[in-house]
Amino acid sequence: MSPRAFVAEPLSTAQMEQLAEAARWAPSASNKQPWHFAYALRDDANWQAFSQLPNEFNRRWCLNAGALIVLLSDKQASAKHSFDAGCAWGYLALQAHSMGLATHAMGGFSADEARTVLGLPEHLVPEIVIAVGRRADASVLPDDLREREVPSQRKPLTEVLSAGAVPTAAAA
Ligand SMILES: Cc1cc2nc3c(=O)[nH]c(=O)nc-3n(C[C@H](O)[C@H](O)[C@H](O)COP(=O)(O)O)c2cc1C
Repeated sequence: MSPRAFVAEPLSTAQMEQLAEAARWAPSASNKQPWHFAYALRDDANWQAFSQLPNEFNRRWCLNAGALIVLLSDKQASAKHSFDAGCAWGYLALQAHSMGLATHAMGGFSADEARTVLGLPEHLVPEIVIAVGRRADASVLPDDLREREVPSQRKPLTEVLSAGAVPTAAAA
């Protein structure tokens, strides 16, 4: 689950390194590894700048996270840069879970601002911002967000898995 309630305590550098260590072992097209993780821990000098990147809605909850990570992909390195970076994000999320931490990806952020804050060359693409931290009780959230702090459903297996040709209904 991608929670919005986080305990407002910083991640350690060692924890961040463990997360990236798992992510960097993700497979990628031609092993180009077209990803980069730029992070700020909530107690470090970069936090203020990173915390401006998420949009207004996301800032309502993500500012309690222990760290914010900007996931970048390298479009110069591979035609599959976004796909591969997405796989690395998945590995990072599973590693976080195994460490008792939670992650929440955010597509709602300013890529332009990220370019400025991180001083990015044109070929590095800001893909998502990731909030990481220890989960808090939903009571720390404002009412409307607390109501949404429940597990999400998924499409049934029959809708996403087919032997051979894709059924017309699923393709529609
Ligand atoms: C690429 C991506 C972008 C997302 N952007 C946002 C976002 O901007 N704000 C937000 O609250 N959740 C965001 N999410 C979280 C999804 O809404 C969430 O993963 C989905 O609803 C399934 O819920 P679950 O992860 O709790 O199972 C994003 C997730 C992904 C993978």
